[in-house]
Amino acid sequence: MSVHLLHLAGTGGQPLAMNMVMANRHGLIAGATGTGKTVSLQVLAEGFSAAGVPVFMADVKGDLSGLVQPSEISEKFVERLARVGWKDYKPRSFPVLFWDLFGKTGHPIRTTMSEIGPLLLSSLLQLNETQTGVLYAAFRIADDNSFLLLDLKDLQAMLHWMGQHTRDLSAQYGNITGSSLAAIQRRLLVLEEEGAEAFFGEPALQLSDIMQTDFSGQGVISILDARKLVNESPRLYAIFLLWLLAELFEELPEVGDLEKPKLVFFFDEAHLLFEGAPKPLVDKIEQVVRLIRSKGVGVYFCTQNPTDIPDDVLGQLGLKIQHALRAFTPRDRKNIRAVAQNFRDNPNVDVEREITEVGLGEALVSFLNEKGAPIPVVRALICPPQSTIGPASADAIRQRRDNSPIKGKYDQPLDRESAYEQLKERAEKAAKEDSQDTASTRNSSRESVSDVLYKTIARETGKLLFSTRGRKIFRGLLETLTRG
Ligand SMILES: Nc1ncnc2c1ncn2[C@@H]1O[C@H](COP(=O)(O)OP(=O)(O)OP(=O)(O)O)[C@@H](O)[C@H]1O
Ligand SMILES: [Mg+2]
Repeated sequence: MSVHLLHLAGTGGQPLAMNMVMANRHGLIAGATGTGKTVSLQVLAEGFSAAGVPVFMADVKGDLSGLVQPSEISEKFVERLARVGWKDYKPRSFPVLFWDLFGKTGHPIRTTMSEIGPLLLSSLLQLNETQTGVLYAAFRIADDNSFLLLDLKDLQAMLHWMGQHTRDLSAQYGNITGSSLAAIQRRLLVLEEEGAEAFFGEPALQLSDIMQTDFSGQGVISILDARKLVNESPRLYAIFLLWLLAELFEELPEVGDLEKPKLVFFFDEAHLLFEGAPKPLVDKIEQVVRLIRSKGVGVYFCTQNPTDIPDDVLGQLGLKIQHALRAFTPRDRKNIRAVAQNFRDNPNVDVEREITEVGLGEALVSFLNEKGAPIPVVRALICPPQSTIGPASADAIRQRRDNSPIKGKYDQPLDRESAYEQLKERAEKAAKEDSQDTASTRNSSRESVSDVLYKTIARETGKLLFSTRGRKIFRGLLETLTRG
């Protein structure tokens, strides 16, 4: 097994480097605003990319596009390089793919309604228990009737259709009321107004596209433009990243311990993930984070305050980069005490004090050694990135976008026949039949045989279509976790 080191910091000219064999043990980058979190993220992403590890990261403030443009060395940089012990530093750019859920500033990312499933969707729509029950029923009814739920209008059509058949459906699927249906429909409208329409549908994202290496073997860094998303639809942001994580977990094989991860995933503004999330969802996040490690995926959370992250998740994080925290109020100080307890003691470092003292781009750092034990906490300066800090020039971004290896693949939405069209056709057929002679001498028993046959075929086809992307298993997982 070859050794891949990630040189992330240094002190007194001595480099501090993490062995990537432990990079699937996840991490945390925390600190008050303006203390250096994003640059630390950038330095990690560069290190992984250079070692051939693909990276997925969300750009919340628009300051990660600098990765496509080499840095400019200033005097300050030279001084920092000396302090972190980086002798062969060279400014350079990195292979980047730009993504955007709204399809404006990067490749659109889509997934289908049925892949998102009712658990994530009900959290996204903030449904109450009764409404959630009705949403679950909608998915089950769609399954049983072979209606494909791909985009927003499929689900809308489905709910509309359910509204016309509440009595029959309630007998079979439990109480389905017009008011619950209407509530869900209203929430879907809000979602539509936020522009989420573009996110649900096909062609759905293929994971292999965010797990690429380029021609020279470097990991491609996928940057998701999350500026609009985080500000206007923070829930969709959280649910999307969660879906992606669950999808990775579902689709990737078990790999055991690798010399370096297969993919590294950065969760910026991680508090959005947990804020107001229902308990089953938080449990699910904990579980996915615990299990995804064995699939060779490292998850790195970035947030201002480590206490934003539930203890069960915090306890699983191997790398910790703690930038400065402020100690203005008694609450701040209590918080700092809690954070200090998460580090392995070093007699030379007074964590509680130094957390408030570290400078810009400086941090208390700890990670796991190659045996999996945490190193004693070190106060260190984070390396400068090789690419530009902050946004790249518009030209550099455009050039990268124009040269994308997956250009054209996702740009056009695909609208194949699904629930919306199926239900429309059904309604038209019913109307036509109604207008024909209703007193005709149709052989009802023969008709029902062909009807059953048709339904069975349609159902089997539907199942096949569904299972091609592992939707069943995925939703199965979500549901087991909720029940568990
Ligand atoms: N490792 C570093 N090397 C060189 N300069 C750095 C480093 N870290 C931080 N800086 C400097 O500090 C500035 C602020 O850092 P950064 O944007 O990473 O803070 P942040 O914690 O992400 O802030 P916010 O919470 O507002 O997003 C950078 O623009 C850069 O000038
Ligand atoms: Mg930042």
